[in-house]
Amino acid sequence: MTTKSKPSDPRAGWLALARELESHLLHLREEGATEVEADPVQVRRLAEPPVFPPPAAEGAPETADSLAAIAREVDACARCPLHSTRTRTVPGQGSTAPEIMFIGEGPGADEDQQGLAFVGRAGQLLTKIIEAMGFTRDQVFIGNIVKCRPPGNRVPMPEEMQTCLPFLRRQIALLKPKVIVALGATAVKGLLDVQSGITRLRGQWMSYEGIDLMPTFHPAYLLRNPSGKKDVWEDMKAVLARLGREPPPRK
Ligand code: URA
Repeated sequence: MTTKSKPSDPRAGWLALARELESHLLHLREEGATEVEADPVQVRRLAEPPVFPPPAAEGAPETADSLAAIAREVDACARCPLHSTRTRTVPGQGSTAPEIMFIGEGPGADEDQQGLAFVGRAGQLLTKIIEAMGFTRDQVFIGNIVKCRPPGNRVPMPEEMQTCLPFLRRQIALLKPKVIVALGATAVKGLLDVQSGITRLRGQWMSYEGIDLMPTFHPAYLLRNPSGKKDVWEDMKAVLARLGREPPPRK
């Protein structure tokens, strides 16, 4: 039996790619290959269930993926246990054409109440950092690795991160920021599968799907360790330089 996919069906491209990959691997095996070199991040992505927008109704105009569609899917999501303890989902918010995307770990209590990322104490410090860089919160995008609050603000479990990450990946693909700022080790681990501590990683340029990524300390860490603020400011100056900008004069 053959399965026919309509050309507008977003599954068609993914299925074709999966079949092509399978036949390529079978061919390599026939040729005698016993091992294949592969990027672990890409392999992990293959293992994730693809997230597709809901199929368009018959005769309805074709709709591209959108931030609103992602937020609706996040709202309806019950794929991991975090959905059962959340008050509101927190898809992330900000500019639809940001130069910079800030990515944290996951919502805390204030974010869970308001449905907005980084609005608690750590968020207020992030606002100060963004403004010191010469931007407003509305001019950047602020999001998280997981879109629902982990109970008691614990670090999200690897399975929770893996389940939620396709939403963030779709957001990044739509927003196309020039720079991603990964706030803390969980953000780096989620996006790049790099396990090192943030003290080691911060300040070193990395790359997510060809987008420059700067790891830095999470603002919640800075609330506990204010001496890290000067390091974050060095990292943010490097971000501004990469964007061809200078920090505005201090008020
Ligand atoms: N910490 C995060 O990582 N994200 C938020 O949205 C708030 C606090």
